Amino acid sequence: MSSDLLFPDGTVTRFFFNTPFFSLDNLLPGRPLIFITDRNIKKLYPSLFPPSRTVVLPPGETHKNRRTVNYIYKSLLEMNIDRSATLVGVGGGSVTDLTGFTAATYHRGLTFGFVPTTLLAAVDAAIGGKNGYNMGKIKNCIGTVRQPGFILWDFSFFSTLPEREWISGFAEIIKHGAISSSSHLDFLEQHTSDHFKHDKLLLARLVSESVRIKTDFVIKDQNEGGMRKLLNFGHTLGHALEHSCKLTHGEAVSRGMVYALRLSEKISSLNHEEALRLEALLKHYRLPTAMDFKPGPVFKILAKDKKKRGELIDFVLLETLGHASLHPISFEKVRKDLYDLCCNRP
Ligand SMILES: NC(=O)c1ccc[n+]([C@@H]2O[C@H](COP(=O)([O-])OP(=O)(O)OC[C@H]3O[C@@H](n4cnc5c(N)ncnc54)[C@H](O)[C@@H]3O)[C@@H](O)[C@H]2O)c1
Repeated sequence: MSSDLLFPDGTVTRFFFNTPFFSLDNLLPGRPLIFITDRNIKKLYPSLFPPSRTVVLPPGETHKNRRTVNYIYKSLLEMNIDRSATLVGVGGGSVTDLTGFTAATYHRGLTFGFVPTTLLAAVDAAIGGKNGYNMGKIKNCIGTVRQPGFILWDFSFFSTLPEREWISGFAEIIKHGAISSSSHLDFLEQHTSDHFKHDKLLLARLVSESVRIKTDFVIKDQNEGGMRKLLNFGHTLGHALEHSCKLTHGEAVSRGMVYALRLSEKISSLNHEEALRLEALLKHYRLPTAMDFKPGPVFKILAKDKKKRGELIDFVLLETLGHASLHPISFEKVRKDLYDLCCNRP
């Protein structure tokens, strides 16, 4: 199933939904495809990646850095890749973020596309054109916004996902419901992660609805001037936790959402029952909700967040389930609340 998504700046992303990976060559004729993937995926699916057309990266978030970007540039130069090529990032969010950034900068820009192989990349990281890498503990502080030419979803990749990575994807799916669609939350409450694992039609419905919600935000605000910022619900604390506590992206964002729920109850109009309902949904999908980390190191990272402006930091809070808004909050208040929530751990 294919469709085209037109962005306000005139760029078009082709969506190949629920489409086998092997059809890529036919879908994109006439351009050499260069695959960028990671070691784990290459090992699991060796026949998909011709060595002469593949760059293999070390896996995971800890390698989403300048060193890996340089390795990709060097590999592309050694392979004599010119601007006629299309880079195809096949992997989770670390691979798609790195592929998008390299494609935007190598030879001043190549066409590129993604084949997300984690649930998280399928519903979030591959969509929206944000890409980049981390500098030390500061997440995504170098990057560009550039839409992929295509995204191909082949759900068969999920069969090899470790359970922890599968569960991680549900954090972003729940976030999409929390900020913009209470009916999406109802749908999630009626099912479990195992239902989606065993029923491909149900999974396709889940992924397509999550993709629809994210693309809606991106189309209306491609460069994050306003409403796209709401997609950061749970991410301000989440990003700081992801690096300092060695969590998956979803595990960190889940805790970040719980913290944002507490702030929402105090600062915006979210009521306690709604906050408990969302927290219960996170637990239902076996995502962590406990504030069981040391706040000191996390706070140091938070202090360098892109969203901090002087003494204020922008937090996305919920007004009700399905409606979010942006609130500038005193950094001192965030620090105090975080320490209180973490039971005054040092
Ligand atoms: N650009 C965006 O808008 C955006 C949005 C959300 C998250 N992100 C980024 O995405 C990254 C997290 O993505 P992720 O959770 O997909 O992590 P990841 O890409 O680091 O992958 C996690 C692990 O799963 C393995 N893996 C991937 N696919 C597999 C498969 N099919 N079978 C077996 N193993 C597989 C990888 O090798 C890796 O070890 C973070 O860097 C985050 O910042 C970006």
